[in-house]
This record gives sequence, structure tokens and C-alpha cells, in this order.
Amino acid sequence: MSDKTALITGITGQDGSYLAELLLSKGYLVHGLIRRSSTFTTQRIDHLYEDPHESDARLRLHYGDLADGSRIAALLESIQPDEVYHLAAQSHVRVSFDEPEFTGTTTGLGTTRLLEAIRMTGLPCRFYQASSSEMFGTTAPPQSESSIFHPRSPYAAAKVYAYWITRNYREAYGVHAVNGILFNHESPRRGETFVTRKIAHAAARIARGEQDALHLGNLEARRDWGYAPEYVDAMWRMLQQDEPGDYVVATGTSYSVRDFLGFCFEHAGLDWEKHIRFDERYLRPSEVPDLVGDASKAERELGWKATVHAPELARIMVDAELAAVPAPARERSLTGA
Ligand code: NAP
Ligand code: GDD
Repeated sequence: MSDKTALITGITGQDGSYLAELLLSKGYLVHGLIRRSSTFTTQRIDHLYEDPHESDARLRLHYGDLADGSRIAALLESIQPDEVYHLAAQSHVRVSFDEPEFTGTTTGLGTTRLLEAIRMTGLPCRFYQASSSEMFGTTAPPQSESSIFHPRSPYAAAKVYAYWITRNYREAYGVHAVNGILFNHESPRRGETFVTRKIAHAAARIARGEQDALHLGNLEARRDWGYAPEYVDAMWRMLQQDEPGDYVVATGTSYSVRDFLGFCFEHAGLDWEKHIRFDERYLRPSEVPDLVGDASKAERELGWKATVHAPELARIMVDAELAAVPAPARERSLTGA
């Protein structure tokens, strides 16, 4: 068991929740940064909750926001983490076209605020940056650590900036900072407006007779979809290396949105063609057509390899939706996300 201390930004998100579970299971003391909100946002980590009045609580939450550099520095100073996993971001590609400036200041500059706080406090902590396959944009697959970036959204442009500022703090100041270039990874905890969760959720509702149609945009886009719990293990492995580096994490297989529809609806006993409607609001001004990762460096150096591929992932997600208490339709058609 480890006696290390970690700070996770984005602990209330999909990846943050799985990473918190993983680190707690390894004996870490886990601190998480959460945003103040008028309603609770901790549903994904409620099962990990420990009474903070108990002195041996291993999970501790702190208010803070990526926009607030002085708060981040003060937290680092008091927590003194060995490892910082920076997962917080405005992470929705379609939304980034509506909110490009906000996406830049959180997804891009948020990384600089954390790295600058590490530099100013002089902490010898290791730093993980949640980089993204979205940075490759139109670069032809398979994409690896040496592929060219061609960002196709404000989100991707912000992630490219964050990737390079992470490398710069490594080269300029010797910070043990790594980029995990993760391809799409999903789970039953995936945000409800990402396409896999949207499809799995709708398939379960249609199977139960609670709705009839699902509105989607581009069905031809291809993604390399993996299973989120496996991907947070790769993040941890990256920070255990003696030398910092950058790693692609992916399954190496790609399927279209249309394929994923087929997997989910078939598993729910449905014919997807009877239920899908096109809605142009879900199209992006510029699209990323085809992502397939080459994760051979991660396999070689980290001993990491994906085992769950899209067909099994679809079954996991639909089964979780079918087992869940029926919930309202979650398509946010007013927003186009
Ligand atoms: P997610 O579910 O959308 O979670 C994002 C997290 O960031 C949430 O905890 C959110 O808090 C927090 N956050 C957003 N803005 C913030 C701010 N201004 N200050 C503090 N916290 C803020 O994302 P995810 O799927 O877990 O992804 C984790 C990271 O990996 C993100 O950086 C994402 O861009 C990147 N990534 C994801 C994938 C993927 O396929 N999932 C692939 C490559 C890279 P609230 O709960 O309050 O909203
Ligand atoms: N969200 C959404 N909603 N996507 C749709 C829809 C729809 O109704 N219809 C078709 N799509 C298509 C999108 O155009 C895109 O090509 C594909 O489905 C996947 O969309 P998302 O699930 O929103 O994910 P993403 O690939 O744009 O971004 C995710 O993966 C990135 C890694 O490549 C996010 O998790 C990013 O944060 C992450 O960096």
C-alpha cells in the first residue's frame, strides 16, 4: 500500500471518479478539487464519501476553480501532494464552439495556472495533464505520440496549448510533467451529452417504451472507444515512471457512431433504423473524422493494454442503463450538445 498524497482536479467527472477509486484502493490520501455549485455535483463520488470529521478520512474535497490561480497555489501549499492529476476541463467539443473563450481559459490556461503554482511553491510533485486525441484532428490514423496536431475545435486548440505548456514546464523548469494523450473512453458514468452515453441511455428508454426517437448528428465519424476504468490505470502508471514522457492511450480499433448505435440497439433488442432522427444542431462546424490510436509505447513502457473494445463497451453501458432506475429523457436538444 502507498502512503502517497494525490490531488485530483475534475474529481467529480467520469475519469476523476474512477481515478479516485483506484488511488484510494492503493492506499493514497486523495484530495479533490470541486467547484461550488448551487446543487451537489458529487454523484459520481458519493459512494467514496468519508466523514471529514474522522481524522483518518482518506478522501478530502476542497472548493476551487481553474480560473482562480491563487486558490490553486494555496491548496498545493497546504496539501503538499506527491502527484497532481489535472483532469478538470470544459471537456465537450460541441460546446466549445459556443463557448470558445471560456474553454480557452479553463481547458487551456487552467493547466498553466496549475503548473505555475507548482513552480512557485517549489513542490517536487509529479504532474499529469489530460491531453486528448482530439488534438490530432484531421491527421490520418493511426495516430501516435509523433503524429502532427491539427486541432479542429476551440476545445482541441486549448488542449494543444495545454499539451505544449506541460512540455515547456518539463523542459524549462524540470517539472516531472507528463501528457497522457487519451483517445475516447466511456463508461456508465460518462456525461450524458457525449454520444455513447446518449445512445445507451436512449436505447434503454426506447426498450422500456419510455421514448420513441433519438436525435443525432454525424453518424459517420469514427472513434477509438475504450473503457474509462482501464484508462485511469494508464494515468497512474505514467506518473510512476522514473522519467516523464508523453503517451498515447487507446484500443487501436475504431468504429463509427453508426456502428456504436448498432451495438447498443441490438443489445437492447431494437432496430436502430426505426428510431434515429437527424438533427443538424448536433453537427460541429468542423469535424474530426477518424481517430485510431497506436498505443504501442504505452504497452512497451507502461505494461498497459486495453482489453475492452467498443462492442463490449456498448453492452456494458446498455446493461447499466437497463439496470438503472428509469430517469427522464436526457437529450438536451435546446442546446445542441
Ligand atoms: P468530465 O466528465 O467532463 O469531467 C470534467 C471535470 O472538470 C468535472 O469534474 C468538472 O466539474 C471539472 N471542471 C470543469 N470546469 C472546471 C473549472 N473551471 N474548475 C474546476 N473544475 C472544473 O470529463 P472526463 O471525461 O472525466 O475527462 C477528464 C479529462 O480528460 C478532461 O480534461 C477531458 O478533456 C480529458 N479527456 C477526456 C477524454 C474522454 O474520452 N473522456 C479523452 C481525452 C481527454 P463539474 O462536475 O463541476 O462540472
Ligand atoms: N455529443 C454528440 N451528440 N456527438 C454526436 C452526436 C450527438 O448527438 N451525433 C453524432 N455525434 C458525433 C460527433 O460529431 C463526434 O464525431 C462523435 O459523435 C463523438 O462525439 P462525442 O461523444 O461528443 O465525443 P468527442 O469525440 O467529440 O470528444 C470526446 O473525446 C475526446 C477525445 O478524442 C470528449 O470526451 C473530449 O473531451 C475528448 O478529448
